[in-house]
Amino acid sequence: MIYNLIVMSKLKLSEEVLAPSCPVIMDESVLKKIGNTPLIPIQNLTRDFPDVEIYAKAEWRNAGGSVKSRPALQMIEDGEASGKLTKGKIILDSTSGNTGIAYALIGKIKGYRVKLVMPANVSKERKGLMADFYGAEIVTSSPFEGSDGAILLAREILERDPDAYFMPDQYNNDSNWRAHYLHTANEIWKQTDGRITHFCAGIGTGGTIMGNTRRLRELNPEIKCHPIEPAEELHGIEGLKHMASSIVPGIYKEEELDSKISVATEEAYDMVETLEKEEGILVGHSSAGAMVGALKLAAQIKKGVIVTVFPDSCDTNYINFGKFKEHSETHSTTKPDS
Ligand SMILES: Cc1ncc(COP(=O)(O)O)c(C=O)c1O
Repeated sequence: MIYNLIVMSKLKLSEEVLAPSCPVIMDESVLKKIGNTPLIPIQNLTRDFPDVEIYAKAEWRNAGGSVKSRPALQMIEDGEASGKLTKGKIILDSTSGNTGIAYALIGKIKGYRVKLVMPANVSKERKGLMADFYGAEIVTSSPFEGSDGAILLAREILERDPDAYFMPDQYNNDSNWRAHYLHTANEIWKQTDGRITHFCAGIGTGGTIMGNTRRLRELNPEIKCHPIEPAEELHGIEGLKHMASSIVPGIYKEEELDSKISVATEEAYDMVETLEKEEGILVGHSSAGAMVGALKLAAQIKKGVIVTVFPDSCDTNYINFGKFKEHSETHSTTKPDS
């Protein structure tokens, strides 16, 4: 709750009711709006580092509003291709956030039922977007067990009736990181004309960092790739995981990566406001965390071309349509999830 009060005061949110930025046309053309996001140059915050360029992938420009539309689509389409996801099966997974929105959107377009397990304290607006707008079924897990509790409950539901469900399991599904290996990294390579020297990204499932790292290093083995992790075990950077105190995702292989960059919740929250003021970009907390991480990296390297990922924006996911009081009441100190 304390973090929500901080961000509310920092963002000076109004009581205005904002509509979520969801696609209105719901046919297969929406799926073509996943990927090929713009690469935004950070112009003012780099002033202390004249020889460093920083760019951010504007992932909120994906249909579904976040970076997670990429792995969600890849996991679903790989599931179809392998024969594990057939018509009539229900897509089941644990997610309180962007992946759930992406599953719900893609499921609706492709004609699958979607069941999402998430902690009971996830904001009503998020649940509403997934359930009311895209028709997903929501199952709630204990608010005191965070994302790990949701993972365990989703596994239990699957075990009770394995034939009814297709569980992408984003934490252990190679299609998650492959979405970035096949697409995001190649886009970055082209958008920087192969000039990228450093990549850094926040870690939730680890899909973004692993897929980009593997492909970028194939293109140029000299590229350094740094995971960005919340500094605290109980942090407020939604979407990111503090690996030392969590179930480590099966797809996350820290040994392949360069040094970790640690970002405190307070630093990320301050950066939400700074990015709005200095760069005119209104992003979510994990994007701001990525920016803090990129600046810490810039201070270390002094020269280079850094690319980071801004997973989502502020509008759909964090400004909860004017109901701040309810929001702060429903959010407690449990661990945030991906
Ligand atoms: C807002 C946000 N930021 C960052 C991430 C981390 O991305 P990844 O799961 O690819 O590590 C997520 C993952 O769900 C997210 O929702």
